Amino acid sequence: MKKDPEMSADEMYWRIRVFDSLSYPSVIISPDKTLLGANKKFYETFNLSFEEIFGKKCFNTFLYKDTPCNSDQCTISKVIKDKKSHSFVLRHQYRWEERVFSPIFDENGDVAYVTANMRDITQTKSLENQLHGAKEFISRVIYSSASAIVAADRKGNINLMNSVAKELFGDYNGEEGKIKHTEQLYPPGKAKEIMRMLRDEKIGGKGKLLIPRTTIVNSHGEEIKVEMSAAIIYDEKGNESATMAIYNDLKDKIKVEKELKMAQKQLSQSEKMASLGQLAAGVAHEINNPLTGVLFYASLLLERGDLDDSMREDLGYILEDANRCKSIVKSLLVYSRRAGSQKNIVHLNDIVNQSLTLIRDQKKFRNIIIKKDLSDEMLLIHADTNKLNQVLINLVINAADSMDGLGIITLTSYKEKAVKKVFLEIKDTGEGIPHENLSKIFDPFFTTKEVGKSTGLGLSIVYGIIEEHGGKISVKKTGSKGTIFIIEFPMCVPSETKGPSLCNPQTD
Ligand SMILES: Nc1ncnc2c1ncn2[C@@H]1O[C@H](COP(=O)(O)OP(=O)(O)O)[C@@H](O)[C@H]1O
Ligand SMILES: [Mg+2]
Repeated sequence: MKKDPEMSADEMYWRIRVFDSLSYPSVIISPDKTLLGANKKFYETFNLSFEEIFGKKCFNTFLYKDTPCNSDQCTISKVIKDKKSHSFVLRHQYRWEERVFSPIFDENGDVAYVTANMRDITQTKSLENQLHGAKEFISRVIYSSASAIVAADRKGNINLMNSVAKELFGDYNGEEGKIKHTEQLYPPGKAKEIMRMLRDEKIGGKGKLLIPRTTIVNSHGEEIKVEMSAAIIYDEKGNESATMAIYNDLKDKIKVEKELKMAQKQLSQSEKMASLGQLAAGVAHEINNPLTGVLFYASLLLERGDLDDSMREDLGYILEDANRCKSIVKSLLVYSRRAGSQKNIVHLNDIVNQSLTLIRDQKKFRNIIIKKDLSDEMLLIHADTNKLNQVLINLVINAADSMDGLGIITLTSYKEKAVKKVFLEIKDTGEGIPHENLSKIFDPFFTTKEVGKSTGLGLSIVYGIIEEHGGKISVKKTGSKGTIFIIEFPMCVPSETKGPSLCNPQTD
């Protein structure tokens, strides 16, 4: 080392002591790559003496080469050129080392020497790797989760959305996506309410929340029912640093629940109908005989020539009412399915057209427009035409009644090949069915119409007939704008080998 003329011996001494007390090996190299000396740690680490390194070239000692490295690869050359430190990291099997080359300037500001410090960074590197591994693992857990996961900073800015969350919220573009803030995930005001509940110790414990059913909003503004759990993430000092939420779409669960409810409803309705059917059949049978007598003798009496006008009028009433009873008895017999059935393979559209011809001229339909939206495809079902005519007439008359004789009735037919079902919808623009009546409309004798005008048997007969055809009937929609009844039938699939009658077996 050149002696600095202005440096005192003392100063020279402590500067060497500093160099010697560095905890990592260091060497001093001249610009021509000659080793000039090293600190104590260097000699200890590499088990070398001053004599063994002094005057040697760095490429001899460290790289076991006879010739210098290319100047664009040599770090010492870079330090001299840039007049600043350069470093690189080396890996010796399980050991990591960072080599930092720094310039030592002369009084003119040129690089007089270069120090090379060799720092063992194995521990730092292994911590870094562990951290990286842990981060990678957590990120894999998050991204492979079947639940939607969203995390946000304290201000609600979203900084993580796994792929399920992107799908659920309809945000496919990741960072450039439309969803940036937690408020966009919920209906207005809901995000704030969730934060309030999260902070409330009485709800799920502080910083934790589980909501079995709530609503979120996707980027198209559609509301989706989800199960949600949320948490506040606290830092080591207990301050709120972020929030996270996990969502599970309830679409499938709700669908299964609905189907189950529907099946239970259908089952209890069927049971009710079956026991009422037995009763109705018995009553109808018992009444039928005396009723035939009443009608017979009343008509005989009417034929007598010695009756005055008032007696004639009274007899007329007896006959009229007895005939009404007869038609009720007939309905009861149909309802109780005693009336036998004759099934053939028929086109649903033909039945619709036929039924409409039967009611076409009735006064009730004078101010009603009947629209047909019938499928162009073959809608084959295994059915008793007469009974289905009754079904349609009943439904269309009910529709007309609900509109007070003025409105539109639309009949729509279609099929869904995948589920082998044929559908018929009867839509009206009537007053709708009040919610509390929905569970009763298929019950025999349930009517909201004037007493004496209607029997309340129509829909229960319809229900029985549809059931007999292996189908289902329900109210698809009802409200102030009208009602839609939907009927589904098993589809008849014509088979080339077995002839055209290969229907779903449950229909037979
Ligand atoms: N399309 C409809 N719109 C509104 N209410 C209806 C409709 N169809 C049926 N209803 C309700 O269901 C009840 C039962 O119908 P139904 O069994 O045919 O008996 P009825 O027609 O003799 O009253 C009706 O009284 C009416 O309240
Ligand atoms: Mg009716």
